Amino acid sequence: MVNKLIKFSVKITLTLVLAFTAFSSFSQEGEKLFKANCASCHNPVKNATGPKMQGVLQKWTDAGEEELIYQWVSNPSKLYNSGKSKMAKAIWDWSPTAMTPQGHLSREEVESIFTYVDNYAPPVAAVGAGGLATGNDKSNEADSSDYWWWIISFILVFVLFAILGVRRELSAAVAAKEGKEIDPKSTFATNAQQWFLRNWFVTMLLVVGVALFSGVELFGRAYQLGVYEDYMPSQPVAYSHKLHAGKMGIECKYCHHSAEKSKHAGIPSVNVCMNCHAIVHEGPEYGTEEIDKLHKAAGYNKNKQAYNLDEFGDRIEKPIVWNKAHNLPDHVYFSHAQHVHSNTANIDCRQCHGPVQTYTLGRVSTIDEVNAYAATDDGMERGLIQLTKPLLTMGWCIECHNKKEIDLTSSGYYEEIHKRIKLRADVNNKIFEDDKVTVKELGGWECAKCHY
Ligand code: HEC
Ligand code: HEC
Ligand code: HEC
Ligand code: HEC
Ligand code: HEC
Ligand code: HEC
Repeated sequence: MVNKLIKFSVKITLTLVLAFTAFSSFSQEGEKLFKANCASCHNPVKNATGPKMQGVLQKWTDAGEEELIYQWVSNPSKLYNSGKSKMAKAIWDWSPTAMTPQGHLSREEVESIFTYVDNYAPPVAAVGAGGLATGNDKSNEADSSDYWWWIISFILVFVLFAILGVRRELSAAVAAKEGKEIDPKSTFATNAQQWFLRNWFVTMLLVVGVALFSGVELFGRAYQLGVYEDYMPSQPVAYSHKLHAGKMGIECKYCHHSAEKSKHAGIPSVNVCMNCHAIVHEGPEYGTEEIDKLHKAAGYNKNKQAYNLDEFGDRIEKPIVWNKAHNLPDHVYFSHAQHVHSNTANIDCRQCHGPVQTYTLGRVSTIDEVNAYAATDDGMERGLIQLTKPLLTMGWCIECHNKKEIDLTSSGYYEEIHKRIKLRADVNNKIFEDDKVTVKELGGWECAKCHY
C-alpha cells in the first residue's frame, strides 16, 4: 500500500514538473514570437508605430470580432478591404500605415503572442540614484519560475518523508503485535536504506529525476549568467534613435565617433547634441520639455542664444549621466575598432546591436531581432549574418568568430592576414581546403585574445 503511494507521488511530481515546463515554454514561445515579429512596431503596454498590444484581444472580443483579429494579424489590408470588420476600419483610421501581414504565423502562435502580451508586466526601472544601471530585467522572470521549482521540490520531499514515517510506524506496530522484538538498531536511516534497496526502480527514478532537475537548473543558471538581452535602462532625457538615426538618417558614427578608433563606441557629449540643438529648440513629441534639459546640461540660454559663463569665462555645464545598457564583465576584452573599422572586420553596427534606427533609447537587442533584421533587404545589403546565441555571451562571440568570413580583398588588410596565415601551417592548409578564412582560423578562439 505504502509502496503504491510512493510510486503515485513520484508520478504526480513528474507530471507537475512536465506540466510546468510545458506552460512556461508556451509563454516563452509567445515572448519569442512577439519579439521576432511584432516588437519592431508594437510594445505590449505603450503605443509605438502600432498601438499597444495588451488587452487588444479583449477589445476585439468585446466588439464581437474575436475571430477576425486573427485574420487581421494574418492580413490586415485584406480584412479592411472586405469591409466586414468595424475594428479594422477604426484602427485603419487611427493610422493608415498598414502593418506587415503576418500570415506565416499559425493561429496557435498568434494566440501565444496574445497570452504573452496580456501577461506582460513592464520591468521596474533598474536605475539607482544617479548611478550606473547594471541590473537585468530578466531576473524577475527567473525568480518567479525558481519559486515554482522550489514548491515542487518541497512537495516531493515532504511527501516522501511523510510516507516513510508512516511506513516505519506501521511496521513497528505490526512487529509489536506479532510479539517480535524490535531491532533497536533499526533506525530511520537503515530502514530507508533497505527500502531504497528493495525498491531500486523507484529509487533510480528519483535519482535520475533529481539529477536531471538540478542539471537543468544549473545549466539554466549558467546559461542565464551574463544574458543581458532585451535590456533597456531608463534615461534622463527622452532621446530617440528612431527620430535621429531613423527619420533624419544621421550616421551612427556621427554620434558614436570613437567606435572606429578605440575600444569604446562611447556616448556623445552634450556638445555633439548642441551642434543642432543650439538652433533646434522644439521636438515633435515633447515640445521644448526634453530639449530644455539639453540646454540646462550645456549651460545654454536659448533666449540669449549664448552659453552661461562663470567668473573665469568657462561654461557652466552639468553633464548628462546616461545609464549603460551594454556591460561586459571586466575579465573580457572587446574592442569596437577591431570590429568596425573599414580596415579590420568592417562589421555593421546592426550586426551586434540590431535595428537601432527603429528604437527610441539604446538597448541590448535580442538575437531574434537581429536575425529578423538580417533577413530584410536592408540587413542583407549590410552583409549581416544569422547567429543563434544570446548577445554578449561568450557563445555569441565565438559563434561569429567561427562563421564570419574575413574578406581578404578589403583594403590594407590583406597583407596583415597573410602575415598571420604564414605563421601557422595548420591554418594555411585548412584555408586552402575550403577557400575560406574565419576569425577562428586566425586565432579568434584563443582564450587570451578575449580574456585578460
Ligand atoms: C511593420 C510594423 C508592424 C508589425 C511588424 C506588426 N504590426 Fe500590428 N500594427 C501595426 C500598425 C501600424 C497598426 C495600426 C493599424 C495600421 O495602421 O495598419 C497595427 C495594428 C495591429 C492590431 C490592431 C490593434 C488594435 O488596437 O485594434 C493588432 C491586433 C496587431 N497589430 C497585431 C500584431 C501582431 C500580433 C504582430 C506580430 C505578429 C504585429 N501586429 C506586427 C504595425 C505593425
Ligand atoms: C571571442 C572572445 C572569447 C574567447 C575566444 C573566449 N572567451 Fe571566455 N568569455 C567571453 C565573454 C564575452 C564572456 C562573458 C560572458 C558573459 O558575461 O556571459 C566570457 C566568459 C568566460 C568565463 C566566465 C563564465 C561566465 O559565464 O562569466 C570563463 C570561465 C571563460 N570565458 C573561459 C574561457 C576559456 C577557457 C576560453 C578559451 C578556451 C575562452 N573563455 C575564450 C569571450 C571569449
Ligand atoms: C544633426 C542634428 C541633430 C543632432 C546632432 C541632435 N539632434 Fe536632437 N533633434 C534634431 C532635430 C532636427 C529635432 C526635431 C525633429 C523634428 O521636429 O521633427 C530633434 C529633436 C530632439 C528631441 C525632441 C524629440 C521630441 O520628439 O520632442 C530630443 C529630446 C533630442 N533631439 C535629443 C537629442 C540629443 C540628446 C542629442 C545628442 C545626443 C541630439 N538630439 C542630437 C536634430 C539633432
Ligand atoms: C562585433 C560586435 C559589435 C559591433 C560590430 C559593434 N558593437 Fe557596439 N558593442 C558591442 C559590445 C560587445 C559592447 C559592450 C562593450 C562593453 O561592455 O565593454 C558594445 C557597446 C556599445 C556601446 C556602449 C558604449 C561602449 O562603448 O561600451 C555603444 C554606444 C555601441 N556599442 C555602439 C556601436 C556602434 C555605433 C557601432 C557601429 C559603428 C557598434 N557599436 C558596433 C559589440 C559591437
Ligand atoms: C544623434 C546622436 C546619435 C546617433 C546618430 C546614434 N546614437 Fe546611439 N546613442 C546616442 C545617445 C545619446 C545614447 C545614450 C542614450 C540611450 O541609451 O539611448 C545612445 C545609445 C546607444 C546604444 C546603447 C549604449 C549602451 O550600452 O548604453 C547603442 C547600442 C547605440 N546607441 C547604437 C547606435 C547605432 C547602431 C546607431 C546608428 C543606427 C546610433 N546609435 C546612432 C546618440 C546617438
Ligand atoms: C558578428 C561577428 C562577431 C562578433 C559577434 C564578435 N566578433 Fe570579434 N571579430 C570578428 C571578426 C570578423 C574579427 C576579425 C578582425 C581581425 O582579425 O582583426 C574579430 C576579431 C576579434 C578580436 C581580435 C582577434 C585577433 O585575432 O586579433 C578579438 C579580441 C575579438 N574579436 C573579441 C570579440 C569578443 C570579446 C566578442 C564578444 C563580446 C566578439 N569579438 C564578438 C567578428 C565578431
